[in-house]
Amino acid sequence: MEHLITLKEWSPEKIRVVLDLAKDVKANPDKYGSAMARKTLLMIFEKPSLRTRLSFESGMTQMGGHAIYYHTGNSPMGSGKETISDSVKAASRFVDVIMARLFKHGDLLEMAEYATVPVINALTDDSHPCQILADLQAIEEKKGVLAGLKLAYLGDGFNNVTHSLMFGGTKMGMHVSVGSPAGEEYSPRADVVADCAAFASASGGSVAVSADPVEAIKDADVVYTDSWMSYHIPKDQEQARIAKFMPYQVSAELMAHAKPDAIFMNCLPAIRGCEQTAEVIDGPQSIVFDEAENRLHAQKAVVLNLCNA
Ligand code: CP
Ligand code: NVA
Repeated sequence: MEHLITLKEWSPEKIRVVLDLAKDVKANPDKYGSAMARKTLLMIFEKPSLRTRLSFESGMTQMGGHAIYYHTGNSPMGSGKETISDSVKAASRFVDVIMARLFKHGDLLEMAEYATVPVINALTDDSHPCQILADLQAIEEKKGVLAGLKLAYLGDGFNNVTHSLMFGGTKMGMHVSVGSPAGEEYSPRADVVADCAAFASASGGSVAVSADPVEAIKDADVVYTDSWMSYHIPKDQEQARIAKFMPYQVSAELMAHAKPDAIFMNCLPAIRGCEQTAEVIDGPQSIVFDEAENRLHAQKAVVLNLCNA
């Protein structure tokens, strides 16, 4: 039995199989209209969500199955009355696949250890692999390839989306360039950079981290940013973070250093005037809603693949 915990554990071949399946799911949704008939997805949420919840739930409906939204605030696990292991061992007797959006990555690892059905990471403080599968699908749709493209990420480097993009991009032969403030609370984790350097040397890609936003974005094919105030960041850090990240705001001026046909991406939710200007996210280079749509197709592919359906 396989899980989707992070893209670090998934081989490039596995990512390719799922991306190809996602493409077919998008082109031929009816072909999969009963692929999950009488199957149930349990969706465990500790954090808020729009896209992840709606795309997983709609995806199960479209494949003839069912999804249960379960907020940990109403659970024995969330109230400390039951361990994670007992909860997922019991849940595994009722459902066919579990996805979870949690704070601590270690809690997701514990779920995967004790579940007897596949477990999918729907975002932890450390990683967001479902997002990146949808992103890779969107990049390939727009650019025709992944390998050889320069993907520049600007902003919060010590971030779940950043780390997952680095894994996914380097596994697929991309040149991943992160522009983020110096300091370990703002730049990508050193172990992730080291892992990605190894993935890149195997795939023909590369990974680079720079505190210079112009150097990071220069000649990029894809420009990506994410919230400066992730769900787990305390509100009282907002002003300090805005000041720190403002030089990395994706503005039209900064975009001008990327290739003229570069696409702009943000996993959303987005704040205009923070991680990017309104002009960029609402402008012609932005593909953020095509990107969001692919959450549906990519996650249907993940569920089908892990459930052998
Ligand atoms: N991109 C993303 O995961 O969005 P939600 O937080 O709305 O699910
Ligand atoms: N980095 C963001 C992603 C939101 C989808 C967060 O963790 O809130």
